[in-house]
Amino acid sequence: MGKPPRQRRAPRAVSVARMQQIDAAAIETIGVPRLLLMEHAGLAVARAARMLTAPSAGPIFVCCGTGFNGGDGLAAARHLHEWGYPLRLLVAGPLDRLRAEPATYATILQRLNLPLLEVPDTARLPQAERPLKECVLIIDALLGIGTRGAVREPIASLIVRLNRSGKPVVAVDLPSGLDGDTGLAQGPAVKATVTVALGLPKQGCFRGAGPSYAGSVIVESITIPRAFLEFD
Ligand SMILES: NC(=O)c1ccc[n+]([C@@H]2O[C@H](COP(=O)([O-])OP(=O)(O)OC[C@H]3O[C@@H](n4cnc5c(N)ncnc54)[C@H](OP(=O)(O)O)[C@@H]3O)[C@@H](O)[C@H]2O)c1
Repeated sequence: MGKPPRQRRAPRAVSVARMQQIDAAAIETIGVPRLLLMEHAGLAVARAARMLTAPSAGPIFVCCGTGFNGGDGLAAARHLHEWGYPLRLLVAGPLDRLRAEPATYATILQRLNLPLLEVPDTARLPQAERPLKECVLIIDALLGIGTRGAVREPIASLIVRLNRSGKPVVAVDLPSGLDGDTGLAQGPAVKATVTVALGLPKQGCFRGAGPSYAGSVIVESITIPRAFLEFD
């Protein structure tokens, strides 16, 4: 008889700083392209959304920030589109702020005739009301582990509207507005149904009020090398 399969330990929650070190090591030391990680993150988020709703039920509203968390949301949108889901897409900030990899996904989506609603300020927020009313599920890709300080506008007001809608939410990596270390809300914070933790879960999802914002936490490696994700 061969050796029994190695037991996989439950992934341990980490601080934001530790997760950022791990991401940097995967990208810079090992050379895993950021676009490749984003593609896997998007696929993981799309699969979580697929567990909660079917294409025939109605649109999914994908709300993205201008950082890499937003890029993960745009990557998820590409998969969901290929699986036949109707989508509504929002970018909270100027589109020209998107960095290379998120901009790649934004271009693909636009060329597939999926319009991106650009909400750079609170004046444009009323345009989010219609997709919010129409959708059956929200993907929260506004803010992840790169959040600094209290949540600024227009994202703060958008979070209030998302929560008020009562629609189920899949949060990417961390519910927007939740401090990934302390579990404290940085102003308004998204109340998620499911949080798809990328790489390793963040401590804030389990501390203080964190669990009431994060909902069920699913952990996805997104192909960050295993050696970085398993430690004592
Ligand atoms: N290696 C990877 O590519 C990789 C691996 C794993 C996960 N991820 C994903 O990338 C995320 C981290 O990406 P990131 O470092 O770009 O950070 P982020 O979480 O996307 O946040 C950065 C963005 O949020 C804005 N922002 C920061 N603080 C804010 C505040 N208080 N209020 C409103 N807006 C604020 C920033 O705008 P300003 O620049 O104007 O401040 C920037 O647009 C992770 O959570 C995960 O989703 C990426």
